Amino acid sequence: MMIGVAVVGAGHWGPHLIRNFNDHLSSHTLWVVDQAETRRKAIDERFPSVSVTANVDDALNDDRVDAVVIATPTSTHSGLVKQALEANKHVLVEKPITNSLDDAAELCRLAEASERVLMVGHVFLFNPAIRAAKDYIDKGELGELKYLSMTRTNLGPVRTDVNAAWDLASHDISIANYWLGDTPDSVSASGGSWLNPGVHDVVFTTLRYPDDIMVNIEASWLNPRKRRLISVIGAERMLTVDDMDLNEPLRLYDKGVVGAASEVTDTFAGFRSQIREGEVLIPHVTTGEPLRAECDAFLARIRGEEGTLSNGRAGADVVAVLEAMDRSIANDGAQQEVEKVK
Ligand SMILES: NC(=O)c1ccc[n+]([C@@H]2O[C@H](COP(=O)([O-])OP(=O)(O)OC[C@H]3O[C@@H](n4cnc5c(N)ncnc54)[C@H](O)[C@@H]3O)[C@@H](O)[C@H]2O)c1
Repeated sequence: MMIGVAVVGAGHWGPHLIRNFNDHLSSHTLWVVDQAETRRKAIDERFPSVSVTANVDDALNDDRVDAVVIATPTSTHSGLVKQALEANKHVLVEKPITNSLDDAAELCRLAEASERVLMVGHVFLFNPAIRAAKDYIDKGELGELKYLSMTRTNLGPVRTDVNAAWDLASHDISIANYWLGDTPDSVSASGGSWLNPGVHDVVFTTLRYPDDIMVNIEASWLNPRKRRLISVIGAERMLTVDDMDLNEPLRLYDKGVVGAASEVTDTFAGFRSQIREGEVLIPHVTTGEPLRAECDAFLARIRGEEGTLSNGRAGADVVAVLEAMDRSIANDGAQQEVEKVK
């Protein structure tokens, strides 16, 4: 069955979705909706078979459209998802699902009641290195987990409707929730805003997960270096995922510190003996566009295949953390509980 898709929002990210659904063997992009005439013109030139419009109702009223894919700014997600679900369409919405937890929970209920697929574009959950790391973690290869350190920086793109946490740390929160199979109990966060009043350009956060696991995230669009680096520290081994390293993104370190912390070592040799320096394994990770895998999963779910990865609930879990981060930033970094999504 060919699944008819409408993509709403054709800015920086939308064209990747338009291309993926248009090139797919089991879907085609029928409509692209964008408010900006320049974007409609660009899409018309690049994808001549696709109809373009400024009015979302043109796509929602078309019976050939089974699914709506939303890639507009975050502040517009909630209203557009609701409209699409009410028009009985399946929905894939870009991350974060909404800018409010109440709205996210309402959309989940609406999708469940109308038996429509609601998926969120947490694309890193479809990234082969992130998936391979999950296997190592689940198999206990790292031993008991201690902490995760996550860095996501770049110069731009600067948003005005959400801060750097909602835009960037949303990826890391989705990864941490996926790897740890849980949501954090509490967070503390600090942010700095310089470019636009009240919109934080950098956010530093510490999340506390069950089992005493700590997760630290640095998210910034005001940094000269593009970095996407995650370290996972276990009692037995450690691993890193560097999304900037296209060939060898994943490394597994057979390293650790042995010996009781109270042992006094006053020689360099004594200090070295406590460090266990084993092999570094660079597992082969299959290449492939993560966004393609995300689109495949969305189409498979529309065809009735089971799957909960990155569903509406997982998206709402991320928003619960982001809301707690905002509360913490507003309270000088004071620890805030994370609401559990019902
Ligand atoms: N998964 C990822 O890795 C990833 C990467 C980039 C962006 N995103 C997400 O994609 C979304 C869009 O980001 P972007 O960088 O493409 O933004 P953008 O500002 O470049 O593009 C947004 C487009 O939406 C259009 N638009 C705005 N409101 C609209 C409405 N109500 N109806 C129709 N069109 C409307 C704008 O004209 C613009 O062309 C955001 O939610 C962002 O978080 C995800």
